[in-house]
Amino acid sequence: MNNFPETVSLVEVGPRDGLQNEKSEVSTQTKVDLVEMLADAGHRHIETGSFVSPKWVPQMADSDAVFAQIKRREGVTYSALTPNIKGFENALAARADEVAIFGAASESFSQKNINCSVDESLDRFAPVVSQARANGLRVRGYVSCVLGCPYEGEIAPAAVASVAKKMLDMGCYEISLGDTIGTGTPVKTQRMLEVVADAVGVDKLAAHFHDTYGQALANLYVALSCGVSTIDSAVAGLGGCPYAKGASGNVATEDVLYMLDGMGIHTGVNMQKLLRASVFIMQAVGRPPSSKVANAMG
Ligand code: HMG
Ligand code: MG
Repeated sequence: MNNFPETVSLVEVGPRDGLQNEKSEVSTQTKVDLVEMLADAGHRHIETGSFVSPKWVPQMADSDAVFAQIKRREGVTYSALTPNIKGFENALAARADEVAIFGAASESFSQKNINCSVDESLDRFAPVVSQARANGLRVRGYVSCVLGCPYEGEIAPAAVASVAKKMLDMGCYEISLGDTIGTGTPVKTQRMLEVVADAVGVDKLAAHFHDTYGQALANLYVALSCGVSTIDSAVAGLGGCPYAKGASGNVATEDVLYMLDGMGIHTGVNMQKLLRASVFIMQAVGRPPSSKVANAMG
């Protein structure tokens, strides 16, 4: 009936996507402790920071210090967002293991988020990808607004497929499909995934769903049944996007883990240790966790 994967790779984006949108000040030491707790919980890919303009996203201004201070574990990839060559050079100097370029399927969102058109963004990403690869780093590609845009509304799946394909052709190893504002619903998710998988292959796709309307787990279930086996999530459901009004956090890692554990899908992440990281970061930001599982089990 279903085509569920046996194992899923979780990409923990809380330290970047979560904390980039946090209003309260989070110290560098807290970020370092969070990254280390996530690695201790079994995460093998942690998006640790972002090398963007500190005027645009001040919350990520200390990413170089976070990278410098974390104790690195063997087998863990510590990655960073890099919108342009300047960001890439900073990420390289910080010894990021992997970088990510981030574009959009929506022109308006591209302008608001990175101050250029979709085509211009691809022109800026090309040298980032080639320099990253020349330095032995893998590059992940994000496509935002795959199930709706805060400025344009509906987005055609063909527009998502087109940007995804261009980023893969450029040399990205994987495309993470962002439901940036969490407006997607399951059948719409399936239709979008069918079109994009048809263009680039489902094995190249990751799901990056925000939970603004409480649809993320249902959408992820659909993504899993379509064969997607990489899922982005943020501990405690931290997160949002500063350039997408109303975007709440990413789907919470502990909620995803609970679902995957219940489906017998292996991730390598330990729930109890993850919950400790969840309680830790929410105490630091002064709010209760927004995940159901942390509230039930934490
Ligand atoms: P710009 O103003 O068009 O860039 O910004 P510019 O090249 O004209 O430079 C302007 C100033 O920024 C200059 O400094 C540059 O040096 C500096 P000044 O001379 O004014 O002092 N600058 C930089 N500084 C540090 N690092 C850099 C960098 N580049 C330029 N890399 C830019 C263009 C892309 C830089 C800007 O728009 C920006 O930083 N945007 C950040 C957007 C962002 O981080 N958004 C959140 C992440 S995306 C997301 O959350 C979605 C995702 O989760 C998936 C999903 O959910 O859909 C990934
Ligand atoms: Mg996001």
